[in-house]
Amino acid sequence: MNVFRLTHITTSLHSGSRMVVKNVCCIGAGYVGGPTCSVIAWKCPDIRVHVVDKSQARIKQWNSDKLPIYEPGLDEVVKECRGRNLFFSNDIDQAVREADLIFISVNTPSKTYGIGKGRAADLKHIELCARKIAEVAEGHKIVVEKSTVPVRAAESISHILSANTKPGVSYQVLSNPEFLAEGTAIENLVNPDRVLIGGEESAEGEAAVGELTWIYHHWVPQHKIITLSTWSSELSKLASNAFLAQRVSSINAISALCEATGADVSQVAYAVGKDSRIGSKFLQASVGFGGSCFQKDLLNLVYIAECLNLHEVAMYWQQVTDMNEYQRTRFAKRIIGCLFNTVTDKTLAVFGFAFKKNTGDTRESPAIFVCSHLLEEGARLNIYDPKVERQQIESDLTSARATSEPERVEKLIHIYTDPYQAVTDAHAIVILTEWDEFKTYDYKKMLSVMKKPAFLFDGRKILDHESLINLGFHTETIGKRFTRNTLLRSSGGDL
Ligand code: NAD
Ligand code: UGA
Repeated sequence: MNVFRLTHITTSLHSGSRMVVKNVCCIGAGYVGGPTCSVIAWKCPDIRVHVVDKSQARIKQWNSDKLPIYEPGLDEVVKECRGRNLFFSNDIDQAVREADLIFISVNTPSKTYGIGKGRAADLKHIELCARKIAEVAEGHKIVVEKSTVPVRAAESISHILSANTKPGVSYQVLSNPEFLAEGTAIENLVNPDRVLIGGEESAEGEAAVGELTWIYHHWVPQHKIITLSTWSSELSKLASNAFLAQRVSSINAISALCEATGADVSQVAYAVGKDSRIGSKFLQASVGFGGSCFQKDLLNLVYIAECLNLHEVAMYWQQVTDMNEYQRTRFAKRIIGCLFNTVTDKTLAVFGFAFKKNTGDTRESPAIFVCSHLLEEGARLNIYDPKVERQQIESDLTSARATSEPERVEKLIHIYTDPYQAVTDAHAIVILTEWDEFKTYDYKKMLSVMKKPAFLFDGRKILDHESLINLGFHTETIGKRFTRNTLLRSSGGDL
């Protein structure tokens, strides 16, 4: 079927019967909408791209020298296209009216209320977009669901649009999920593994798929563009994130076994990943996965399975997120255990707060969970991250979700812009994000200003642990035990 449809689309592209997309609009100028549409504008100079958002602050930043998100390569792309064929504004009505094709790229967080609270995807932003489009659209519009949504969300969008259709207005709704990862967004967008386009199985549906395919054809080879049914496309996105998260939880489960048995998780991951059927990617044991999507998409999958009475399926995927919770808690407990079972009034220098390197995003960052655990135990935290803003760290750790005692926590956290100052008089360094710059620090210099015994907990496995032990750090990492450290501990940490 796929081959038939691709042939059909290619034929219609060459037959000259296309509508020719000249104007693209994207509702939602976030981590997906901003970079995705910047790359479309960059690769398609013949298309005018208008990115709109309800947030005035966000749009102001997109139009400034300091973009609202940090992504390697993004500044350059925006600089080249902004004002030429790339525009950012709050004028949603005008952008929708002018567009031939509209991406919906708004946030779809887990619900925080009502039925499915904490698990089901909250589709209120998607629905508002559909209603806005229905209210102002003129002529024929292709509406593209780029946000990650539960299966059959496109059907809901279609219902809202068709129930509100005015004379002379028509729609086709497509699913085109995004697979970019933060920190490598531009690279992923420019050279994607695949592009999924799901559409309705009708002549109109296939024509719409053809239009979107034509946009991607500007830079993505045909063999990477996969056309499929809308529902398969929606489910493929959730399934992909679930599989990726599952790999991280799998290796993290093995890391606990390594710590208990004396095996080294890096060696195990290397050995396992050498099997070409398994592959080596996404086998880096860590303090746990974070980011805005893995957790919410897994929980969404669990919720969908439960609603369909597929309890075993729900329980299977639930374990992936339970294992992540276990890993984060395990790491925090290990820190406390090593520090003689108490961190009360001890100072810990935390390196890294973003959920991964090369982003300033902290959504669901394991750092929030580990720090909250340590703060609960009365630790003082000196936090340094190269990209995360002070206000973001403060609000993440004092939010109602993180603590019931925001005033107490506020007094316990100090944000630093210099890592060397952050370690002064600290009992330990805790690495929670894998920023490259952490590998280049002068740890001898750091050790000299720390309390002794000085501890280093590497939650990302990025440092040279043997060298740190030789310097005199009591070093702990995920999925490995150092025998010399044990001797140190029994000798009271006398270096
Ligand atoms: P985000 O929170 O960074 O951005 C969403 C933007 O939409 C916000 O700026 C918000 O103000 C705007 N918005 C919400 N409702 C609106 C409305 N009615 N009108 C106008 N603007 C509105 O979210 P994101 O990280 O870009 O994620 C967007 C979607 O893409 C989600 O479904 C997510 O699961 C998915 N996704 C995210 C990533 C990622 O790396 N962040 C990757 C792939 C897919
Ligand atoms: C992930 C997917 O990789 C993207 O394909 C997807 O589009 C996106 O989610 C989404 O839907 O939002 P992202 O969350 O940005 O992208 O980053 P990842 O590189 O996947 O990392 C997620 C988390 O897993 C990070 O905290 C990272 O440190 C952790 N991780 C990743 C590990 O602990 N070990 C690994 O081997 C890989």
